[in-house]
Amino acid sequence: MKAFLNGQFLPLSEARISPMDRGFLYSDGVYEVIPVYSRFPFRIDEHLSRLQHSLDGIRLPNPHTNEEWRTIILRLIDETEFDDQLLYIQVTRGADIKRDPCFPKGVPQTIFLFTAPLVGPTAALREHGVAAITAPDIRWSRCDLKTLALLPNVLTRQLSADAGCAETIMFRNGYLTEGSSTNVFVVKDGAILTPPQDNLILPGVTSNVVLELAAAHHAPLEVRPVSETELRNADELWLTSSTKEVLGVVTLDGRPVGHGDTAGRPGPVTRRMHAWFCAFRENVMRHGHG
Ligand code: PDD
Repeated sequence: MKAFLNGQFLPLSEARISPMDRGFLYSDGVYEVIPVYSRFPFRIDEHLSRLQHSLDGIRLPNPHTNEEWRTIILRLIDETEFDDQLLYIQVTRGADIKRDPCFPKGVPQTIFLFTAPLVGPTAALREHGVAAITAPDIRWSRCDLKTLALLPNVLTRQLSADAGCAETIMFRNGYLTEGSSTNVFVVKDGAILTPPQDNLILPGVTSNVVLELAAAHHAPLEVRPVSETELRNADELWLTSSTKEVLGVVTLDGRPVGHGDTAGRPGPVTRRMHAWFCAFRENVMRHGHG
């Protein structure tokens, strides 16, 4: 697999950083994950603007202009041997000679990118949906920043892995926040509900595509706090992320989601949204923007 480290393109297996890197010692850095379909980076501008938001949030200057980022990203995509890629970007506050929490002076940032095969849900998971569990949200109060400090996400995700489930959906003070690495949408009585993009959730790039698609198709949509009770009584539930796209959740804490015909199966609103999403992505790839 291919990588870019501090100005150099190289095989991932040859990339080396110092153990004094502040990303390693303090999780002092931010990251992005861009899905690449047939060598086309989907929503690259939106990912770069979220990177800027994350950098601003931790007071780290952006080491590159968007034009420079594009050049690096396109060359890395080009040098990768497969077409569908998960492109990872990480920027840290660099490697100092001493361990001191205060920002170092004159230390260059560490800039690291790599590509891996993009592995989406299997056709069977897409067709039948996935199981999720719930857990308290144990993260900090700047979840809008995509920082390297993912330990709460790791621990929370492992709870669902231990239970043989695909995701852990989190609550804070009785309200839905998001999944450990996904945004969450609820369908109730035909309306799509999702929490507002405040400091408690990551503004998902995929989630924003879904919000745009709902508006474009005049689907009833309510962006507002969603209570735990509403989540548990949902007709349909789905997750969004760069790797999962739009993925139906069919059981929650072991109980089927929904009622009647579609209980325990991805419902009609979920299926329609996934179809809109795929059509939108195909269109963007054909026309080269969006
Ligand atoms: N995760 N919420 C959280 C906490 C996330 O980590 C992610 C993305 C999302 C969805 O965002 P997007 O649609 O922009 O991928 C929501 C990435 C994929 C990751 O950490 O691997």
